[in-house]
Amino acid sequence: MTGSSATIIVPTYNEAPNIVELVRRLSATVPDGCEILVVDDSTDDTPDVVRAVALTSTVPVRLIHRDEPVGGLGGAVVEGLREASHRWCVVMDGDLQHPPEMVPVLLETGRGTGVDVVVASRRIAGGSSDGLADARRRVVSSAAITLTRAMFPRRLRDCTDPMTGFFALDRQRVDLDALQPEGFKILLEILARHRLTVVEEPFVFAERFAGTSKATLSQGVRFVRQLARLRFGRMPMFALVGVLGAVANLAIMAGLIAIGVPYLAGAAVAAVATILGNFVLQEVLVFPDLRAEGRSLGSRFAASFLFNVGEAALRLPLPWLLVEHAAVPSVLAQGGTLVAAFLARFVFLARVVYRPRRTRPASPLVIDAVGAEVPESLGSDTGPETR
Ligand code: GDD
Ligand code: MN
Repeated sequence: MTGSSATIIVPTYNEAPNIVELVRRLSATVPDGCEILVVDDSTDDTPDVVRAVALTSTVPVRLIHRDEPVGGLGGAVVEGLREASHRWCVVMDGDLQHPPEMVPVLLETGRGTGVDVVVASRRIAGGSSDGLADARRRVVSSAAITLTRAMFPRRLRDCTDPMTGFFALDRQRVDLDALQPEGFKILLEILARHRLTVVEEPFVFAERFAGTSKATLSQGVRFVRQLARLRFGRMPMFALVGVLGAVANLAIMAGLIAIGVPYLAGAAVAAVATILGNFVLQEVLVFPDLRAEGRSLGSRFAASFLFNVGEAALRLPLPWLLVEHAAVPSVLAQGGTLVAAFLARFVFLARVVYRPRRTRPASPLVIDAVGAEVPESLGSDTGPETR
């Protein structure tokens, strides 16, 4: 292993028209001893193109094709980090928005400074994000970065661009099992969960060479969930859903009364609507990653519904018991009951409704070793996925 040899990890999703150019430009610039590791979730012919390029490339090219693409882009990067042959890895996109000529710069900076992570930043002098599709996305991106840095003032102290998908790191400094990759923001996941030293190098985010961006609105939703989980676990999202439910409940009731529905009927309709709405939000926002792990949809709904019934049955008598028989002041009794109900609901959902079954056997990976001599890969343990 020579001084600056590294594994260049390229996550790909339908990037067939970019592969040849990417490998050509990388080959012309990376230090000797590097390998390119493509981690692919494509539905097009990207894997065939990678295999074909590997036959003639001077730099060894390996392909991992995932049939079960857990964690999207971030999951692919973690898979690449597991399978990399070198200690230093560079993560970059496959569409040439990340200039390959920056790769040696990142590696030299890493070696020269002795840090754990070298971030290619669009947001320091000399960098630019002009290649980002449109002005709206640039504004959203800046706002998201500002918010994120405010949430992790210490860990992101030295990182102006935690959303970049272009960075080099010493993978021995990262506990891969601690990561819960979800979509695009894998650097944020890595930095927020470890105490790492960071330096940055500016780069100009280029236009896409070919093909189209895979960023969607659902990536935005995944990002918000990731932030909430990184900072507080599931609790804040759960609380938010609870607050939304209470507000919706009152709004529906007021609306029905306003159009002449008797208030008891209005309350009943509002309660049913809130129970249904809460269930949907808890599925989508609080426990999305655990839906596939345990009970069926019907069973989750039935269990949640029964909890609501039980909770409603206890909510009134409990404060009464506390006040009458334990001499607890009534406001305190009511407040304590509400807090207990909140926590009990959270625990019931996490431990009963969304409880994952035993760990599944590792999903089979298709690993193709192509190109020049392939260094022995580390055990292909896919590990626990999103837990
Ligand atoms: N394996 C795998 N699985 N790769 C994926 C997936 C996936 O589910 N989704 C996207 N990719 C690959 C793409 O093929 C591409 O190589 C790279 O990830 C980035 O995807 P793009 O579709 O080009 O994203 P972008 O250009 O909109 O976003 C880039 O810039 C953002 C900052 O504005 C990425 O670098 C993001 O990580 C970055 O946050
Ligand atoms: Mn791109």
